[in-house]
Amino acid sequence: MAMKIPFFNQKKQEESFHYSEESTPEHIAIIMDGNGRWAQKRGKPRVAGHKEGLSAVVKIVKAAAKCKVKILTLYTFSTENWKRPKSEIDFILRLPKEFLHFYLPDIISNNVRIKAIGNMEELPENTREAIQYAIDSTKDNDGLQLNIALNYGSRQEIVIGMKEMFADIRDSKLSLDKVDEQQFSGYLYTAGMTSPDLLIRTGGEKRLSNFLLWQMAYTEFLFTDVLWPDFSEKEFIHALEEYRHRKRRYGGI
Ligand code: FPP
Repeated sequence: MAMKIPFFNQKKQEESFHYSEESTPEHIAIIMDGNGRWAQKRGKPRVAGHKEGLSAVVKIVKAAAKCKVKILTLYTFSTENWKRPKSEIDFILRLPKEFLHFYLPDIISNNVRIKAIGNMEELPENTREAIQYAIDSTKDNDGLQLNIALNYGSRQEIVIGMKEMFADIRDSKLSLDKVDEQQFSGYLYTAGMTSPDLLIRTGGEKRLSNFLLWQMAYTEFLFTDVLWPDFSEKEFIHALEEYRHRKRRYGGI
């Protein structure tokens, strides 16, 4: 069904796009790269790029909700990002709180349900509290599910999941014969979710950076040079259009 998408009253983008919901990816994962370069190009500190990146998040979450995407997973902070300077880490980890403080009512009115994936235990308490508050306040929404990947690393997720599964086998809660791909998927942070249909990586790099390695076995990849803070609703719609032309065969013919 074709629908007209108005662009959220933004001054710069009063134009509307025709977007067909047909073949919309159900689950989109995004590696939001290029914040630092965006800032450096403007002679600003790197954190200015992260702040601008947060504005892009708000636009893309609303666009995804409008386009009836079911799940949007955003790579916000990886297990490898702890290697960055402390001031930058602190800034990034304050963003979820800022995001929720300013935009939670907007998120709720867009019927978005927030979830988090990653190792929450190692996060600062106020980041955890903000996320938990957002999860609790949006739990009854049934529109777009927004997964915020925080302190997320795919290899770590797989190891933690394996240990839990082995413990269940040891404690006779699970029989070894019953272990298959589906069973194991249930031990990951993404348990019960469909796998991403489309991965978008901004910022020009062409790698997965330890993101959803198990889950993206059959995902379509789309890499763009656009830096994350410049990634607009228009770019997002183009990504969906490009996805529609992909032929997914899952190993078949
Ligand atoms: C990568 O760009 C970006 C990050 C590590 C942080 C991304 C976080 C946000 C956009 C905020 C999201 C907030 C919420 C609440 C979802 P980079 O710094 O590696 O850029 P560079 O490659 O240009 O240096």
